[in-house]
Amino acid sequence: MSVSGKKILIAVSGGIAAYKIHFLIRDFVKKGAEVQVIMTPDAEHFVTKLSLSTLSKKPVYSEFYRDNGTWNSHVELGLWADVIIVAPCTANTLSKMIHGMCDNLVIATYMSAKCPVFIAPAMDLDMYVHPSTKRNLELAESFGHIIIPAENGELASGLVGQGRMAEPETIFNTVENYFTDNASAKTLEGKTVLITAGPTYEAIDPVRFIGNHSSGKMGFSLAEEASKRGAKVILISGPSSQTLTDKNVELHKVTSAKEMLAKVFEFYDKIDIGIASAAVADYAPKDVAKEKIKKNDENLTIELVKNPDILKTMGEKKTHQFLVGFALETQNEEENAKGKLEKKNLDMIVLNSLRDEGAGFKNDTNKIKIFTKAEKREFDLKSKDDVAKDILNFVEAQLLK
Ligand code: C5P
Repeated sequence: MSVSGKKILIAVSGGIAAYKIHFLIRDFVKKGAEVQVIMTPDAEHFVTKLSLSTLSKKPVYSEFYRDNGTWNSHVELGLWADVIIVAPCTANTLSKMIHGMCDNLVIATYMSAKCPVFIAPAMDLDMYVHPSTKRNLELAESFGHIIIPAENGELASGLVGQGRMAEPETIFNTVENYFTDNASAKTLEGKTVLITAGPTYEAIDPVRFIGNHSSGKMGFSLAEEASKRGAKVILISGPSSQTLTDKNVELHKVTSAKEMLAKVFEFYDKIDIGIASAAVADYAPKDVAKEKIKKNDENLTIELVKNPDILKTMGEKKTHQFLVGFALETQNEEENAKGKLEKKNLDMIVLNSLRDEGAGFKNDTNKIKIFTKAEKREFDLKSKDDVAKDILNFVEAQLLK
């Protein structure tokens, strides 16, 4: 997969490494990509708009307004891009991106964009290892951005160390590899997929709850993969620390099973595929104490009542939706999983056994078996991202039948 036809937005900030951007633009243009350059006002001290626009064959913008009074729409630029490359990314621009200091066209465009963001930092060595830079780079990664680390070598200050912006060739290859890895066919284009994920928390009093150890990883991986395949994805998640790379996924955060049920049924009529990977608490306290419960007595009894079974309700109200459930079993695994397929009126169930090392709740890996009424398939232990691919491949194959 080449970068041909891709829309590359290069955001240049004010560092001496800006001179290398000419080579990067030339590489992308040569390979048939469309390049739009924007820059921070300070970057103009290092390189000229004229040289950058000559190579990119497009006007270069650094201000919200042009001389003739027209507007450089950061929203349009942000939505136009297939990827954004911030290079060189100075400590200042990095900090503004992370903290939402939206005082120039580069940051406003970055904040309007939904596409992947690549960051090629460039700064002097002490700035690069400063805790604030390290923290900001970690936060950038947690936003799902791809960091192209600075390289070691001689710096503009004359000092030698890490801080030189990665070579244009390295930046180009990183972006090209990204397109190659993400060249999956849009096999779910036109479909709406609803996914439940994470645990639910059932309040006991204002500070306590009944919950479980589900991380939400499986559901988030499924959401990212379905979106990559072109689906419109609605992800309804209980409390989870997972983050999304793909900004097209519509995330709805809920806390309790009742909230999750209500949220699911806001969308249920319009979805094509429903995947219930949430570990919903089976019971919730009958009454939620208004004040924090004091530890006065030796024993405390909390009466629990059954929560709604969200997936079963989806099964009962099924008209056209393809429904996928999960089963986490410790005994009579296959029988129980197949039982749930029937009882909840599902089209497919994914079984993960707690007996398999690496499978289940908190791990990054999972080992699954898939059952439909007619079929059974076993898979190896894999990362949850790869398990998500297997599950969606299976769903797609069923839809074609
Ligand atoms: O019956 P069990 O809890 O084992 O079923 C697991 C499947 O049902 C999972 O797909 C889970 O997301 C879903 N479920 C649900 N609402 C519940 C309990 C389970 O949607 N209250």
